[in-house]
Amino acid sequence: MRACESIGAGGPDATMHEYLLTIGAGGLSVHRLAREELRSVVGAQRVEDSGVGGQARRIFFWALPQPSQFCELKVPEKVYAVVLRVPTRDLGLPEGEAEAEAALAAAVVSSGGWAPALESWRAFAGAGGGEAAGAGVARGPRSFRVSGYRAGRLAAQLSSNGISEAVGEALAEARGWQVDLKGFELEVVVHINDDMLLVTVPLLERRAAPQANFALPGLAQPVAWAVARSANIAPGELVVDPMCGSGIILLEAAQCWRGAAYLGFDLDEAQLRRFAGNLRQLSRGHAISACRADVVRLPLPDGSVDAIVCDLPFGRQHGTMESVALLYPAAVAEFRRVLRSGSGRAVLLTSQANSEMLADIFARAPAE
Ligand SMILES: C[S@@+](CC[C@H](N)C(=O)[O-])C[C@H]1O[C@@H](n2cnc3c(N)ncnc32)[C@H](O)[C@@H]1O
Repeated sequence: MRACESIGAGGPDATMHEYLLTIGAGGLSVHRLAREELRSVVGAQRVEDSGVGGQARRIFFWALPQPSQFCELKVPEKVYAVVLRVPTRDLGLPEGEAEAEAALAAAVVSSGGWAPALESWRAFAGAGGGEAAGAGVARGPRSFRVSGYRAGRLAAQLSSNGISEAVGEALAEARGWQVDLKGFELEVVVHINDDMLLVTVPLLERRAAPQANFALPGLAQPVAWAVARSANIAPGELVVDPMCGSGIILLEAAQCWRGAAYLGFDLDEAQLRRFAGNLRQLSRGHAISACRADVVRLPLPDGSVDAIVCDLPFGRQHGTMESVALLYPAAVAEFRRVLRSGSGRAVLLTSQANSEMLADIFARAPAE
């Protein structure tokens, strides 16, 4: 068997570790956002989509082990420290089940990825685990379990249970950790398929992220965050969502870019009640409110707004294609009126189908 080296071993910076991020539902746009967030929030490098299992919802990246920054991420479902990532064909697994299990377990136990992965695990468990976890974390895990998963044909002689048992026994012997299937401190996840042997340690789950998941949903929170982020909001600025619906863009922005003032408008009273319901979930101390107004007649003076952020009606769930064709030019004219001359900007979300029309409206000279 060839020596197993993790793909990309020796990160872009010696102090960086390799991580895996998985994304929940949301399609390609959320996938793009995740990559963008990784770069901007945790300063990730060598961000790489995964072919493991043919799933596009996994991203490998390198970053410093900083739990507080990882907790700011909005998109990921889970984040793992990578212990080992090696092409399955490079393992040269023997034919027999017992021999293959032993070879796989030896590859996992001898991986050079344990030191950085355990350092990450200590940092993350210590950051969120409270006093009891803190003591265990300082010493390293007292207990662990291995979750093995096998798919594909290249390792068909192995079973998922066999992998869990073989790797569990080998790690217990090599490291002196106790196997505890229920009360484990550390989990080791071993995936093998026709592409890859991947060994990871889970660090973060979505519920650990410090974000309000608003009770009255509107735009997906990661998308709302991306819209707000694109507006480059600075302290002291006035940010307006003139068709705010349940207010997700403004609520998300208020949590992330404090020090700015946020104002929402909507024509529909029912939407404003949803906004109010969500607003109650936000902690006090945010300058944010909403009231009823028509986007084409905003109750705001000329040149008073620093940034407009808006999820426009697409003409499907909200409005029709005909109403949208009338609304967009009138709304853009109003945006031009209220935005501060020179520095004012608008980040507008619409469908692919409407984006050309919107670009045309912006390209046209404003009416005198
Ligand atoms: C796509 S939804 C916005 C959803 C919102 N981003 C959220 O997270 O709930 C568009 C919103 O525009 C509002 N709207 C439609 N026409 C409007 C108008 N002329 N003036 C103000 N709001 C309007 C609708 O009531 C709806 O809440």
